[in-house]
Amino acid sequence: IRTQKIESRLQALVLCGGVLRRVGDVFEAELERGLREQPSSLQMENTYVPELPDGTEEGVFLALDLGGTNFRVLLLELRAGQLVRQHVKQYHINNALRLGTGDELFNFLADCVQDFVHELGMEDQEFSLGFTFSFPMKQHSISSGELITWTKSFKCSGLEGVDVAALLERCLRARRLRITVRVLLNDTTGTLVAGAHIDPNVGIGVILGTGSNGCYMERASRVQHWEAAHERVQDVCVDVEWGAFGDNGCLDFFRTEFDKEVDANSLLATSFTFEKYIGGKYLGSLLSAALGALARDQLFPAEPEPDQLQTAHLSLFEEENCAGEVAQTLRVLREVCPGAALTAHDALVAQHVAHLISNRAAQLVSVCIATLLRRMRRPHVAVAVDGSVYKHHPRIAGLMDKYITLLAPDHSFSLLGAEDGSGKGSALTAAIAARIAARDA
Ligand code: BG6
Ligand code: GLC
Repeated sequence: IRTQKIESRLQALVLCGGVLRRVGDVFEAELERGLREQPSSLQMENTYVPELPDGTEEGVFLALDLGGTNFRVLLLELRAGQLVRQHVKQYHINNALRLGTGDELFNFLADCVQDFVHELGMEDQEFSLGFTFSFPMKQHSISSGELITWTKSFKCSGLEGVDVAALLERCLRARRLRITVRVLLNDTTGTLVAGAHIDPNVGIGVILGTGSNGCYMERASRVQHWEAAHERVQDVCVDVEWGAFGDNGCLDFFRTEFDKEVDANSLLATSFTFEKYIGGKYLGSLLSAALGALARDQLFPAEPEPDQLQTAHLSLFEEENCAGEVAQTLRVLREVCPGAALTAHDALVAQHVAHLISNRAAQLVSVCIATLLRRMRRPHVAVAVDGSVYKHHPRIAGLMDKYITLLAPDHSFSLLGAEDGSGKGSALTAAIAARIAARDA
């Protein structure tokens, strides 16, 4: 009876085929509206990246990666499309900077670049830089774009509507650095480009990390927003920004009380609805919210302490679940519910909740990918995927494979783990931009 009560309390997290198909239909309708610049929760941003690597990419580039787990500065050297040299340094961005003013943040970024080139003894050298800025932007060209809104753990004042590439360049110039921002790109674009370098069938880039988003190669003629001549452009990379999917209420039909709780406690409430079902920033909080609800109904010994359960714990519970064990799960539960009398059965309940949340995340991201596959109508599409959830969750890749196959049975696809979109992908995109500029000159 207790098991039945638990099941029914969690029922809302279980999405059946009919609901998934409805999500897919809504996604497609929102996508079409976004492309036509009609009101939609999907931004469908033109990235102005019109081609993928062809193996001729050359040069030494700097890259900046802002918006994932780590902020990094990179130096990369490409020879005939191959990465032959790489230096990377990671810098910590504290909460005061994440939540302070935009000017402080960008001055800090420029300080880090200065420190980086100084350490390499290259302060006087000229560089082209690829800036991976993993937030929604209104792009005006391949190298300029305004921040639309912050997401994830950033909320700096005064930057919305500001061209972040121009601001970065100004901060670099103020330090007498001869660095030009050649490309401004999203991490999904970087992942797509890095993936296409490994497999020419790559046509979709996906991030399953702190946040979640995807991009794909769309026919240029289907894209309304162009601020440059594009007669000769066949396809262009479109940044879907599916993290915001549902912000207009179009997905409320499956929203649970746990989702509402996670949203209410998040840094940016009432925005990025879909990302809060999938992103690593939120899966641990969802687990906590669901266990808390069970505890309030006497179906679990105690409510977890706030903000203690992380997505890494959810992955660990899933891992133990696969192995049929409970020891680590119990250890974590004892840490986050101090003083509660926890049993092996409670650990199994927590593992079950972790699985339901993971399964729903995999289903939802798969709906988006399946819809894009159907739209692209290519004989085979490889999907380049990166991000901490994809890399560390023991089941997510397998679940995605299963659900995409079920949702797009007539479309051949493969999932390709493509690392370092913001490093390699950024440098490759800068080289592509240089190639196009030389050709058009
Ligand atoms: C990295 C990519 O591996 O994954 C970044 O190089 C991306 O471009 C990041 O932002 C996303 O994952 P996470 O988990 O760091 O948010
Ligand atoms: C958020 C950002 C998006 C990014 C994603 C993954 O959804 O808005 O631009 O791609 O996180 O990092």
